Amino acid sequence: MAITTEIAPNIYRISIFAERGNLQFNHFLVKDDEPMLFHTGLRGMHAEVREAVSTLIQLTELRHISFSHFESDECGSLNEWLAAAPNAGVICSQIGALVNVNDYIGRESRGMTDGGTFATGKYRFRYCRTPHLPHGWDAGVLFEESERTLLCSDLFHQIGDVEPLTSSDVVGRSHQALKEYQAGILAEYVPYASITAQNLKKLAALRPKTLAIMHGSSFTGDCARALEDLDMMLREVFGPRK
Ligand SMILES: [Fe+2]
Ligand SMILES: [Fe+2]
Repeated sequence: MAITTEIAPNIYRISIFAERGNLQFNHFLVKDDEPMLFHTGLRGMHAEVREAVSTLIQLTELRHISFSHFESDECGSLNEWLAAAPNAGVICSQIGALVNVNDYIGRESRGMTDGGTFATGKYRFRYCRTPHLPHGWDAGVLFEESERTLLCSDLFHQIGDVEPLTSSDVVGRSHQALKEYQAGILAEYVPYASITAQNLKKLAALRPKTLAIMHGSSFTGDCARALEDLDMMLREVFGPRK
C-alpha cells in the first residue's frame, strides 16, 4: 500500500515499498493551482500511485507530469497517466523530448533548457540539466524556488523501508546501498563522468532545504553539504580505478 507524507509544504511523497528489490519507489505530487506529479512510477505500480494521487487531487486537476530521465520508474506509466489525467502535459529535458518522450507519447512534450522555469501557481520550478547524473543523456532535476525543494530523482539512493523524511546521514546510507549494488547486476548505477562534479556543484549552489529522493528517505538539513559529499562518495565508488 502506498504511504503518503507531506515532506515540504504542499509536496507529497507517495511511497511504495517493493519487497523483492528491498527498496522504495517514491513519487512526488505538488499541490498547487496547477498540480504536478514528479515520477509517474512503473506501469505495474500505476493503479496504486493513481489511487494515492486521487486522494490528494482530482485527476482532472493534474496539469503537469515531469521526471528526470527516460526509465520505467521515472516515466514508465506516462501513457497511462495521460489517459487518466486528460488535462496534464509532460515536462522533461529538451533532449529527452527529442530522443524518447515525444515518440513514446505520440505528442509534444515541453522540453526544458538548463535554467528554464515554469510556475504551477504559487510555486516556481527551475529545470537543471544534469547530463549523465544520476544516469542518462537526458537527465535533469527540478528545483522549487520558494520552499527550496530539490526533486532529485535517483540521487542519494537508499535501500530498505526507511522513514519518509530524515535529517540523518543520507550520503552514508546511499554509500552502503551503492557498494552493495556494485557486487550485483545493479553495478555502475551512476557513471562518474567528467561533468559529474560540475553537475553536483551547480545543484549545491541552489542551497536546497529539502531533497525529495526517489529511493529512500527524503532529506532535510544542510543539502548543499550533502551534495558536495555525494560528489566525493560517487567518485570513490564509480570514479577512475587504479
Ligand atoms: Fe534512474
Ligand atoms: Fe529510480
